[in-house]
Amino acid sequence: MCGIVGYVGKKQALEVVVAGLRRMEYRGYDSAGIAVISGGHLEVRKKAGKLVNLQTLLGSDPLPNSTTGIGHTRWATHGGPTDSNAHPHVSEDGTVAVIHNGIIENFAELRGELTAAGVTLTSETDTEVVAHLLAKTLPAAGNDLVAAMRQVCGRLEGAFTLVAIDPRQPDLVVGARRNSPLVVGVGVGENFLASDVSAFVDHTRNALELGQDQIVVLTAASIRVMDFAGNPVEARPFTIDWDASAVEKGGHDLFMLKEIAEQPKAVADALLGRVGNDGRIQLDEMGLDDQALRDIDKVVVVACGTAAHAGMVAKYAIEHWTRIPVEMELASEFRYRDPIVNARSLVIAISQSGETMDTLMALRHAKDQGAKTLAICNTVGSSIPREADAVIYTYAGPEIAVASTKAFLTQIIAAYLVGLYLAQVREVMPGEDIAAVLADLADMPGKVDLVLDTVEPVRALAREFAGAPSVLFIGRHVGFPVALEGALKLKELAYMHAEGFAAGELKHGPIALIEDGVPVVVIVPSPAGRAILHDKIISNIQEVRARGARIIAIAEEGDEKINDYADHVIRVPVVPPLMAPLVATVPLQVFACEMATAKGHDVDQPRNLAKSVTVE
Ligand code: AGP
Repeated sequence: MCGIVGYVGKKQALEVVVAGLRRMEYRGYDSAGIAVISGGHLEVRKKAGKLVNLQTLLGSDPLPNSTTGIGHTRWATHGGPTDSNAHPHVSEDGTVAVIHNGIIENFAELRGELTAAGVTLTSETDTEVVAHLLAKTLPAAGNDLVAAMRQVCGRLEGAFTLVAIDPRQPDLVVGARRNSPLVVGVGVGENFLASDVSAFVDHTRNALELGQDQIVVLTAASIRVMDFAGNPVEARPFTIDWDASAVEKGGHDLFMLKEIAEQPKAVADALLGRVGNDGRIQLDEMGLDDQALRDIDKVVVVACGTAAHAGMVAKYAIEHWTRIPVEMELASEFRYRDPIVNARSLVIAISQSGETMDTLMALRHAKDQGAKTLAICNTVGSSIPREADAVIYTYAGPEIAVASTKAFLTQIIAAYLVGLYLAQVREVMPGEDIAAVLADLADMPGKVDLVLDTVEPVRALAREFAGAPSVLFIGRHVGFPVALEGALKLKELAYMHAEGFAAGELKHGPIALIEDGVPVVVIVPSPAGRAILHDKIISNIQEVRARGARIIAIAEEGDEKINDYADHVIRVPVVPPLMAPLVATVPLQVFACEMATAKGHDVDQPRNLAKSVTVE
């Protein structure tokens, strides 16, 4: 939430920062702003709304030349999306400009203190207090921005990434992080700060991870990292293993369309190198020893949103393969209900961004209880994998569209690999059965590709139903989380009422929602899998059809029986039952994307949302 960019070097800061903000806009787009140092003073431009509004402002009120600058794109927490609440915030005396991601929980108290001292605050944000505190601290800190930042950070509670500049130290950019993301881009004669590496990947693929409660000080020629007490810290370097084209639309109209299309490759990449020549799964990178995995007596998955749906899918598979009980818990609920986890629990945190605060806090709680922790994550170097005992990366490549697509499929793949690995080390599944599932997984890129070739009718249906007041999704077994995911996509992109239900649960209440013409999307289980599930869902279809529902069935090729019960049938390839989410989800992504497009919505940046939710 909120995107941050900082630059110091030889180039025009304006160009570097605005280009970085364009890449960061997925993190929030309520306002955008930039501050540069020029001629010994700060120049700030900021504007409510998307980055394009700031660019228009910069057209009529250009910034002077400068090689030091910071920029921010906001997802509003404290105070609405207005010009005055936009970052950067500048101290009353004009000495410091600050940008911030996170929430300063003791801001009201600090605001009161500043007001009592005669400071006039001009915004409703928590961030502005930091600008004034820095300005007030600077004289006693010898006008050293680094020392002032250290002192001010010591007074802040909550989550923050802060980046500040001071025209008296024009070649310096100072950043600080606690619980919110910040990475360093290491250039030659220039250096960068950003919420994630995509902001500077055009300039350098060398980066540094920053840890908790650390401060980073950039000049064009140097990078210093220290803790809040000022002790030097060694930051871990890493190389970005993709290039700038991965964060461009690559000929697609939307990032979401690009990311939907990338799914066959993403699934293949998620599987790459995970099976040895002996046919056994190797998750060497994971770093949990096999004995620890033999000792666990339960698995708890914590995640949010789409990642939670992936976790729900994984629960069916992991329990089936390993016979270890698996709980799936929304991360935001986990730590507040005194969950039973201990040294014999494996807590798996699933997160595309690796920065979701609810998931990070759940992970920390699990660690505090002594649980073994494993991250399934897409973003190398982010907080969740850094803090977990072990990590499996999904290698989906950058996901820019706010609505998650390829991350979901690859999270399922990674979680399945973990389940199979558990079965392997605990010797609860014959080797040939594991090999058979691995062969099924290896087929999935091709199967997902087949789905993509046949989604045109889905688009037509989306346009047909764009005027519907609501859409319901039902499924059974692994089709249930797919139904939840289909509904989530529609809510976040088409802004319409959509709900997913376990098909058998409908008659226990939600069936009252059915009236004439209500579209119900049914994730139909394979008749060749567990035939009973197919029979049961047909009964559930009958129940809603009898009350006027219009049925859109997602059914596998060759399931002719479904034709008699559905108004529309979307075909997906035949796959084993546990693989079905990997194909059945794709038409639902296309359905939501097309419906949002038909309604004229901004698909990649839906209202009120941000890609990476770094507040609780
Ligand atoms: C889904 O389309 C969402 N954008 C959202 O639910 C997302 O999956 C959730 O916020 C979790 O994000 P994470 O995977 O980065 O932790």
